[in-house]
Amino acid sequence: MISLAGITKTYGAVTALCNIDLTVDRAEVLALAGENGSGKSTLVKILSGVVLPDSGTISIDGRPVTFTTPLDALDHGIALVAQELTVLPHLPVYENVMLPFLRHRTRRLISRRNLIARTTGILDALGVQIDPCIPVSRLGPVQQTFVEIAKALVVEPKLLILDEATSRLGEQEVEFLLALIKRLKVQGLSTIMITHRIAEMTSTADRAFVLRDGKFAGQLLHAELNEHELVNLMVGRTIVPRAKKHAVSVAAPRLQVQDLQLQGSRKRLTLEVQAGEIVGLAGLVGAGRTELLEALAGVRRTGGGTVAVDGHLVPPNNTRRSLQHGLALVPEDRHTQGLIVSDSIHENYELGAVPWHGLVNRKRGRARTRDAVARFGVKTGNVLAPVTSLSGGNQQKIVIARALSKNPTVLLLDEPTRGVDIGARDEIYQIIEEQARTGMAVLMASSDMLEILGVCDRVLVMHENEIVGDLHGALITEHTIALLSTGGKLETHVKAH
Ligand SMILES: Nc1ncnc2c1ncn2[C@@H]1O[C@H](COP(=O)(O)OP(=O)(O)OP(=O)(O)O)[C@@H](O)[C@H]1O
Ligand SMILES: [Mg+2]
Repeated sequence: MISLAGITKTYGAVTALCNIDLTVDRAEVLALAGENGSGKSTLVKILSGVVLPDSGTISIDGRPVTFTTPLDALDHGIALVAQELTVLPHLPVYENVMLPFLRHRTRRLISRRNLIARTTGILDALGVQIDPCIPVSRLGPVQQTFVEIAKALVVEPKLLILDEATSRLGEQEVEFLLALIKRLKVQGLSTIMITHRIAEMTSTADRAFVLRDGKFAGQLLHAELNEHELVNLMVGRTIVPRAKKHAVSVAAPRLQVQDLQLQGSRKRLTLEVQAGEIVGLAGLVGAGRTELLEALAGVRRTGGGTVAVDGHLVPPNNTRRSLQHGLALVPEDRHTQGLIVSDSIHENYELGAVPWHGLVNRKRGRARTRDAVARFGVKTGNVLAPVTSLSGGNQQKIVIARALSKNPTVLLLDEPTRGVDIGARDEIYQIIEEQARTGMAVLMASSDMLEILGVCDRVLVMHENEIVGDLHGALITEHTIALLSTGGKLETHVKAH
């Protein structure tokens, strides 16, 4: 149905895509796989008119087409949910959702009531309840992602492209979305999904198409789709599963939180993280994990309670003082909170590192950035290039590298490996574990169960702004975490510690 032939795209010296041929059939769900920087986003940007290829052709039902803008692609029934959010924060939800529809189809007047009703209809089908009249800026990343998806579905596309849309969602939302894709497939919708979670591909895709360094590396049909084969095609080598680090010998508490009240909540949170300990924060979307981490980093106001690092009280609501006390945060949304998108890779890495006396040694600064780029395997030829020239996963590595460069006493991570590929993820865990071994305390919110189970020494489960479980050792299981996250109670004979 939709075919690409001989697609090539270069950025300066970088070949993002080299001579790619791909056909997506009607009602096919195609997983587009590959490591960070392998060209996945570039390919779907070309398919949806965001980027023009240097050479090659696109055809629909055998007829060649040229897309110079995303509207051209929309006219042909191709809708993209991009890797980074594109919603307009100050406009209400319904205007965001209906925007492509209005620009695309008609000059006819549609009443506001009608627009709102259609928006509500689509959001209902997506299984989310969002007030269509509030500005998008009031929504969290999960809800904003659903607004993006609704915006893509409103034009009733033939091909829906999801570029890591699931990375911003919790497990339940992902399940709902994947079920919806399967339902729409029955009606003839084709989908291209990009994800770094292998289980999502194996459960949903009819075929996986794998890119490596911008080239076609191979493809697997549904029956052949498994982690081993996929990883082999993606990285060209087998990844040895990482041995879990040794349990820590508990030292003094580094982070002590006492009766902390999040703004707008009456509940009180008390917790400790020891030196060398990696503590997971599990819970459903909206359970208060991000709010807790942001409160600890001084980004979000608190309603009372105390935070101490190594016995020293940290003044509340003050990011600079929090950082001085050794608390560094890797935020949830790299584009609005983590990076200055108009700046270079180097400027972003060194952000906040300028000494007060103003004497910055430029050369040494760049060398530091280059070291970090090498250590984290960031795919770039030039640290002075804009940070937006990096692929999504490589941008995330810069945000993590910067937090670690501050030598924090307490590292706060909010969905740290979102968008990071399977190989690089392991390397990041290793770097975090190394730092933990030297005494850093880590508190990490994650919606990725494998990450929680594989990396954490202890898991705190949150439910409705409260810590409802503190799990050690054998109690850290998918079952107990899921139970507690949904407000369930552990049976009395396996009481949480
Ligand atoms: N605007 C740009 N300017 C310069 N280089 C770019 C630009 N966009 C992409 N690239 C480069 O093209 C290559 C492919 O990037 P792309 O974003 O397609 O990767 P990806 O497979 O989507 O990776 P990820 O999994 O991290 O999202 C990368 O090396 C990237 O740095
Ligand atoms: Mg990408």
